[in-house]
This record gives sequence, structure tokens and C-alpha cells, in this order.
Amino acid sequence: MEVIIVENEQQAADIVAGSIGLLMAETSAPVIGLATGSTPLAVYAELRSRYESGDLSFADTTAFLLDEYVGIPHHHPESYRSVIRRVFTDHVDLPPSSLHGPDGEDPKNGGARYEAMIESAGGIDIQLLGIGSDGHIGFNEPSSSLASRTRLKSLTAQTRRDNSRYFGDDPDDVPRHVLTQGVATILDARHLILMAFGSSKAGPVAAAVEGPVTAMLPASALQLHQHATVVVDEAASIELRLRDYYRECYANKPAWQRI
Ligand code: PGA
Repeated sequence: MEVIIVENEQQAADIVAGSIGLLMAETSAPVIGLATGSTPLAVYAELRSRYESGDLSFADTTAFLLDEYVGIPHHHPESYRSVIRRVFTDHVDLPPSSLHGPDGEDPKNGGARYEAMIESAGGIDIQLLGIGSDGHIGFNEPSSSLASRTRLKSLTAQTRRDNSRYFGDDPDDVPRHVLTQGVATILDARHLILMAFGSSKAGPVAAAVEGPVTAMLPASALQLHQHATVVVDEAASIELRLRDYYRECYANKPAWQRI
């Protein structure tokens, strides 16, 4: 996979928004996979600004969320549907009917239905990803099958602690269950872009990029994908053994070669 080490989140946002812009210029009905959490916020701000300046339109775009909490209603301010609307889609011309997320209100049937929706949209062109401090992608916690599809998962205590900042700092108020795209669902997207910033991500990033492929670190499944890009800042890159090589590859990349 390609590893790009950036100076800051804005540089990452420029690169990722550039890639999404190219997709939109080339595809009549682009399908993008959106992640929530703090990592992609600069990308959404950049996409909003490109929309406001008339450089990008999302009118023909379809968007799929990676995951959703179970046990809180769609309209809850911390449901991922609410979050993505607040930070991104309500501010651009993406039609509300073109935004999809797993139905956390129907966890029993929601997984299969979501898979069918992604398939009928023709699959996802670019999937944005963050990485959990435990190495999860989406909400595929350690021990998730690498063959998994969209389904109900239980969050680890670590993830509930990490996300308690959105729930009044009380891990007990974070839902226990989620519906998440599976690892294999994620791997079906045509281009994966995983971003990570800050020293707390250095360990999981190194394990994902350079460690063994293992269900104990679901992000390592990106090694099985033929077009995966990892965009990290200095702090998140610090444990990568080949970081100088990655830097050199990116610096000497031919201009015609895109991420
Ligand atoms: P974060 O979460 O972007 O808020 O760090 C990432 C994740 O849990 O996948």
C-alpha cells in the first residue's frame, strides 16, 4: 500500500479532496464511503470549501456511512447520520436521499439490507477510513473476521472509552452495539484511503501497515487490497520502520501517477 506522510491535517485534506475531485470529474455517478470520528473532519471542511467555491458538486454523488450506533434513534445528535449531516452533507448539494447509513434502529435486518444497497449503487469508489486505537476500521473490533460483512458488533471497552468524549465523557453512556460494514465489505471498495493523525495512532498504524495480517488488528486487512492509501502525519508515522522509504517514494512519484 502507499503511505503518504504529511506535515499536517490540512495537507492530508488537500490530497484526499483532490482524489475525490478527480473521481467526480471522471465518474457520472460517484459513490463515496464516509467515515465519522475526528480524523476526516479536515477533509470534510476542504470538500465543503471546494463546493462553496464552485469547484465540486455532489449532486450526482451517493454516500454510504461506514457504521452506526445501535440503541440510539436516527435523530440522536451523536448518531452517525446526524454527525455526518452536521459536519459535511448538509453543507453541500448532496441530496439527502443519496446519503445512506446502516439502520441502527433495525439491527437484525439492517446488515443484509445495507449490503444490498451498496451493491445496487454499484459498489463504493473511494472509502475513507480512520483507525481506532485498537486497530479497528469501521467498528470492526479486534477478532473481527476478515471475511465479515455488515453486521451487529459489540464495542470494546477501549472504543467506548475513546468515544465517551461525544457522550458527556461517560463510557457507560456510549452505546454497546453498532452496525458496521464488515472487513470484507470495506475491502470491496475500489480505493481505500485510511488517515491517521497524532501519536496515539502510531502503534496501530505501524501494525496495520507493517505487521502481520490478522483479525486481531482489522486495519491490517488493507494489506490485502490492491489500492489502499495511508495518509499519516509525522506523529502517527513514527513507528513505521520504512518511513524514509515511503517518504522517498511519494517525493519521487511521477506527476501522472495519482494516489
Ligand atoms: P477518530 O476515530 O477519527 O475519532 O480518531 C477513528 C476510529 O475510531 O476509527
